[in-house]
Amino acid sequence: SKGTYEFYMLKEIDEQPAVMRRLSTEYLDENGEPVVDDKIVDAVAKADRIYIFAAGTSYHAGLVGQQIFEKFAGIPTEVGYASEAGYHFPMMSKHPFFIFLTQSGETADSRVVLTEANKRHIPSLTMTNVEGSTLSREADYTMLLKAGPEIAVASTKAYTAQVALQAILAKAVGEKLGKQEAKDWNLKHGLSIAAEGIQEIVDGKEAIEKLAKKYLIPSRNAFYIGRGIDHAVSLEGALKLKEVSYIQTEGFAAAELKHGTISLIEDGTPVIALINDPVTADLTRGNIQEVASRGANVITIVGKQFAKEGDTIVLPEIDYYLSALVSVVPAQLLAYYASKDKGLDVDKPRNLAKSVTVE
Ligand code: F6R
Repeated sequence: SKGTYEFYMLKEIDEQPAVMRRLSTEYLDENGEPVVDDKIVDAVAKADRIYIFAAGTSYHAGLVGQQIFEKFAGIPTEVGYASEAGYHFPMMSKHPFFIFLTQSGETADSRVVLTEANKRHIPSLTMTNVEGSTLSREADYTMLLKAGPEIAVASTKAYTAQVALQAILAKAVGEKLGKQEAKDWNLKHGLSIAAEGIQEIVDGKEAIEKLAKKYLIPSRNAFYIGRGIDHAVSLEGALKLKEVSYIQTEGFAAAELKHGTISLIEDGTPVIALINDPVTADLTRGNIQEVASRGANVITIVGKQFAKEGDTIVLPEIDYYLSALVSVVPAQLLAYYASKDKGLDVDKPRNLAKSVTVE
């Protein structure tokens, strides 16, 4: 039940620290070693390429997973829209492994790809929040997100659970393959830092509501920008905001704006910029300058280690590869308050249903 919450979306945002701790307890032992079914780890370790298929928010979680799998498992990884791959099946490597990310386990677009995969005897894993769901039954393997029921149409805790669970699997596979990066990765610690970081953000939600009121609600459009994992989170932040507040929002690779889209920046256009990538932090600062000088109202969401005077939301310091777990939370809250303070039905945005069972 919603308890004292006006909407499930906020309840589910608030539950994320607990979800992080639960995944850590269930899938990592006291020494931080992954506790994942050997059959799954072996099957993925044999692959020469991982293909992740999903839709919407789950697709965005896959974009983060791609970077994590390549870094810690050392296996080339591709991410595709299930709705596209089902009808234009991508060219396969010799030993592909398919991962389906799906909160509901019922998304029709993803089922089409899985049916094709099964015809071709491609091994597959479904990461889902719903035990016994269709995609779970039809894939070779299942890993459960253990996020608890997600009721709000806009997905929040399933996204962070998908990112964390991919990290756990990547570590397990990387260790199996003898990858030093995987062995050295203190994921247990990372998830506990993430849980604390999320808690800090949700405890400061009033400040985020003020930002939503001041900058987002008056605007018809908005942008999210970032590079690397921050780009993946930008896409998710934009989807969340437009989905529940009806403010048209685009997520962009920060440097791509200047190749065309920057012409849309006017006085007062909100641009939310994410900086958690050590490689590109300074470059993104340059892109912020470009939009600010054209009149944009810039909101920055910045990891502590990269923070400068004047930043709007400073996140606790966290491993780049886990940064999405924390940096997405202010974006979720901005979306929530933009919707709520416009008087909209946050949990049931128009034209949408919780699971999309048509192609
Ligand atoms: C957005 C959202 C959707 C779902 C998408 C896939 O907030 O919830 O974009 O992520 O419809 O759903 P699942 O993960 O159930 O396959």
